[in-house]
Amino acid sequence: MPDVLKNDRFLRALRREPTDTTPIWVMRQAGRYLPEYRTTRERAGSFMGLAQNPEFACEVTLQPLARFELDAAILFSDILTIPDAMGLGLSFAHGEGPQFARPVRSAADIAKLAVPDMDGELRYVMDAVRLIRRELHGRVPLIGFSGSPWTLACYMVEGHGSKDFATLKSLCWNEPKITHQLLDTLARAVAAYLIAQAGAGAQALMIFDTWGGLLGPAPFREFSLRYMAQIVADLNADPVSRELPVVLFSKGAGAHLHEMADTGCAALGVDWTIDLADARRTVAGKVALQGNLDPAILRASPEVIRREARVVLDSYGNHPGHVFNLGHGITPEVDPECVKLLVDEVHAYGRTLRAG
Ligand code: CP3
Repeated sequence: MPDVLKNDRFLRALRREPTDTTPIWVMRQAGRYLPEYRTTRERAGSFMGLAQNPEFACEVTLQPLARFELDAAILFSDILTIPDAMGLGLSFAHGEGPQFARPVRSAADIAKLAVPDMDGELRYVMDAVRLIRRELHGRVPLIGFSGSPWTLACYMVEGHGSKDFATLKSLCWNEPKITHQLLDTLARAVAAYLIAQAGAGAQALMIFDTWGGLLGPAPFREFSLRYMAQIVADLNADPVSRELPVVLFSKGAGAHLHEMADTGCAALGVDWTIDLADARRTVAGKVALQGNLDPAILRASPEVIRREARVVLDSYGNHPGHVFNLGHGITPEVDPECVKLLVDEVHAYGRTLRAG
C-alpha cells in the first residue's frame, strides 16, 4: 500500500507548482554536525559499516528529521558506492576523505569495469531505500542520489580526494577515447543505479557533479554534461523513474545552467557563487532551482543566518520553483541549533513572501 505523502512541498516546488511556503532540505543533513550521527557511526565502526547496514542507514537518515521541520529526506549513503561495487575497494579513514585500494589507471583497468549488479553488490542500497520509505510513513519524500560519471571518475582515477583531480584531467587530454569508455560505463551504471533506487521507493533523484566546475566550457560539455544528459534520457525512458523529478547539481558550473536546463531534468542545484535572480532568468522557467546559501554562513550569528536566508529567498522572489538548500554540504563544526533557526526562518519568510 503506497503511503499518502503528508508533505509534498518539495515535490511540488520541483514541478514548479505553487506551495504554501518554500521547502528546504540541507545537503549532508545527516552528518557529523549531529551528535546522534557521531554516536551511530561509532556503533557502526566505520563510515562504510554505517552506509552498508540498512538499519543504521535508515536510523541516520531520519535523525535530522527528528530535530528539524525539513521537507525532504535524503538516503544516507555515498556517491562512491558504485566504484566500490566495481571492485575498487573504498575506505574512509577517520577524519580523512575517501581512499580506493585499487584506483583505475590503465586502459586494461577501464576495460575490466562492469556495471554492478543492483540486486547483488548494491542490494544494501535498495534495502536501505525500502526500509527508509517504510519508516518515513509518508512524512516527507525520499531523495535517492548518485554521483555524476565525471565526479565518480575523478575519485576512481585519482584514488582519493584532490583539489584539481589532475590525473583524470591528464587522461582526458592524453587518452580521450579511454576516458570516454570509462565515462560511458559509469553513465550506464549510474542510470541503472538510479532506476533501481526509483524501483525501491525513492521519490526524487539527484545527481551530484561536485567536480564539474573543474572543467572549461568545451570539456564540461564533452566529459560531464553529455553523460548527465544521457542518464536523464535513460531515466525519462524508464516507466518507473520517468515519474520522478531529477535534480542536477554541478558545483562551480554556473556558466552552464542554460545547457543543463535543456537535458530534461526537473531542477538544477546552484552553488552560492550565482545570484538566484540571474539563474532564474537564465533557465527561463524550464526548470526549478535548488540552493544556494553559502554553508559557511551557518557558522555566523543567528541574526546573520536569518538575514542571509532572506537574501536567498528574496533573490528567487515570489515565484514557484524554488527549493531552499545550501550551495554545498553542511560542515561538521555547525551548531545544530543554527540549522533549526535556518529551517524555521525559511518557512516563516517563505510564507511572508507569498503573502506579497
Ligand atoms: O546529504 C546527505 O545527508 C546524504 C548523504 C551523503 C553523503 N555523501 C554522506 C557522507 C551524500 C549525498 C554524499 C555525497 C558525496 N560523497 C559527494 C557529493 C556531494 C558533495 O558533498 O560534494 C561526494 C563528493 C562524496 C565523496 C565523499 N564522501 C567525501 C569527499 C567524503 C569525505 C568528506 C568529509 O567531510 O570528510 C565522504 C564521506 C561522507 N559521506 C560523510 C558523510 C556524512 C562523512 C563521513 C564520516 O562520517 O566520517
